[in-house]
Amino acid sequence: MSYPEDLRAQVERYLEALRFSEEAGTAKLEEAMRYSLLAGGKRVRPVLALATAAAIGVEPSSMLPFAAALELIHTYSLIHDDLPAMDDDDLRRGRPTCHVAFGEDVAILAGDGLYAEAFKHLLTDQPGESANVLRAAAELASATGVSGMVGGQYLDVAASAPAGAEGLRHLHALKTGRLIRASVECVLLLDGSQEPATIVYFNNFASELGVLFQIVDDILDVTGSQEALGKASGSDERLGKRTYVTEFGLDGARKLAKESHARASDALNSAAPHDPGQLHQITDFIAYRSH
Ligand code: IPE
Ligand code: IPE
Ligand code: MG
Ligand code: MG
Ligand code: MG
Repeated sequence: MSYPEDLRAQVERYLEALRFSEEAGTAKLEEAMRYSLLAGGKRVRPVLALATAAAIGVEPSSMLPFAAALELIHTYSLIHDDLPAMDDDDLRRGRPTCHVAFGEDVAILAGDGLYAEAFKHLLTDQPGESANVLRAAAELASATGVSGMVGGQYLDVAASAPAGAEGLRHLHALKTGRLIRASVECVLLLDGSQEPATIVYFNNFASELGVLFQIVDDILDVTGSQEALGKASGSDERLGKRTYVTEFGLDGARKLAKESHARASDALNSAAPHDPGQLHQITDFIAYRSH
């Protein structure tokens, strides 16, 4: 199965060139931020953003500042997710986690710094009409706020999502789904020329893709190896987390992932019937990935 390595390489080069610290006193903070950022993640969210641009006939490289903002935010979420007070994990992206390498205090600040620098970068470097950039920034803030990623992380740590299949789907839609949906939706907002109906179709696709991503993450936490994942497996069971595997069993979770994959693929065919470009590749990669 192929993954858009060309887009991923563009993202990688762009992230590598980013600098955050302007004085010697904060150099170590920048080092911690770049340590986690440049540790070789899959870059699914920025690659999805660039592929969405291509699918609507926009030059992907014009979306690089937004794509970078996504990866900065995602990396912040991983640093905080791994903290002793959260999932207490020691390995991430094949390296000791940020707090293991730099200490908890610096890791917290590295996450905070990545979040703020993401919005600074989007608001100062993203080309496009300023009204469109503001719409995208508002959606990105919402997707990462209490009705999005952070709210989802709270439902996860407080185990306060409603019972039942719908409650679990809601948890996944917030903690992981909203940022993945924003990776697609914000590109349409930045472009500013898409019909509302087209945005709805793309959002249906991206919402399903986001939930699928976390269902597969839950499965891999049980079936994956530390070597393949670059992070510890078995973390969910150790923490007594509610996942698709605890709720439906491994076979049940696999069946639901398959159904979700089919729904995402169908929704993509409706959103971009003529040239979905590399979005199908990314969808299949998310469903079949082993890391
Ligand atoms: C892991 O995200 C955390 C979740 C939201 C499930 P990824 O699987 O995208 O991690 P990286 O970026 O490739 O390291
Ligand atoms: C975290 O979910 C989702 C985030 C918003 C970071 P997990 O806790 O399952 O992510 P991993 O498995 O540690 O990557
Ligand atoms: Mg977690
Ligand atoms: Mg975790
Ligand atoms: Mg997980």
